Amino acid sequence: MECRIASASNLCYNGTMKNIKELLTVMAGCSAAAGAGLLARSEYERKHFQTDIYPIRSSRLPEAFDGYRIIFLADLHNHSFGPENGRLLAAIRALRPDCVMVGGDMVVAKGPKSLEVPLRLMEALAADYPVYYGLGNHEQRMDREREIYGNQYDIYMGALKELGVHILRNRGEYIERQGSCIRVDGLDLDRRFYKKVGKRPMPPSWLEKTLGPGRIGEYRILLAHSPLYFREYVRWGADLVLAGHFHGGTIRLPLLGGVMTPNYMFFPEYDRGLYQAREEGRRGAMILSAGLGTHSINIRLNNPPQLILVELRRRHGTGSKAESV
Ligand SMILES: [Fe+2]
Repeated sequence: MECRIASASNLCYNGTMKNIKELLTVMAGCSAAAGAGLLARSEYERKHFQTDIYPIRSSRLPEAFDGYRIIFLADLHNHSFGPENGRLLAAIRALRPDCVMVGGDMVVAKGPKSLEVPLRLMEALAADYPVYYGLGNHEQRMDREREIYGNQYDIYMGALKELGVHILRNRGEYIERQGSCIRVDGLDLDRRFYKKVGKRPMPPSWLEKTLGPGRIGEYRILLAHSPLYFREYVRWGADLVLAGHFHGGTIRLPLLGGVMTPNYMFFPEYDRGLYQAREEGRRGAMILSAGLGTHSINIRLNNPPQLILVELRRRHGTGSKAESV
């Protein structure tokens, strides 16, 4: 039998190793608890939307539209707040909107998925309000990748049309009230402008070629799924841009804002909320929704889903100068 006598240095070494192992065990336990806590918080946030009201003032707004209320929905991604989106619908109805505008990505195009959730929601909304629908990259993908999605795009768009939803795919419509008009256009951005890394420059005439002239009389709202080209939209002639796509930056940090978009753009220039720009003497505003759902990165921290009400207000006493907010 081998008999070993522990030396003082051996005892010291064993004691240090034991302390390190205990420390690592505590650290691993704390990390696991913090991770579980953050995941639980994220799950809670994903299920509870926040309602934000944005008053938007403009001297370009006709008097008849003073107080006009628009519900803006974006990036539902098949999510349901309660059965058949009952909680979302109740909140929308309580806000007494004049119309509903949709900024795209109500579906998830990541392999074949059911269209039932967004269609049920649109059915309920279209029964009570005019609904204007601009497309996101997920609706576009259903149309483009027919080898994966078959005729789902046609089924979805056909059902929306039957419900009376105004589908704005690179086209616009006038909204009339007491003899005055505003206009809403829906922009279908080319795939090249949804690049994952960086921002591809948009040729100066692209928006005009795609949507027609922007700097014409009426107050103009642009449903533009991606916020990345806000300045270009204002230059084109948008008074108010309604956008989504970036999901608020997924995780929001104090001072730094959104960390990452669903397409892995880090610390984006625009993430959530209200922005203003002045381009070539023309002012425009953008309300960027953090969206209602998630896909791919199913996390939200300090970034609750957003139900948005836009209240248009006529600004008096500033002449005819283009102005928003
Ligand atoms: Fe999107």
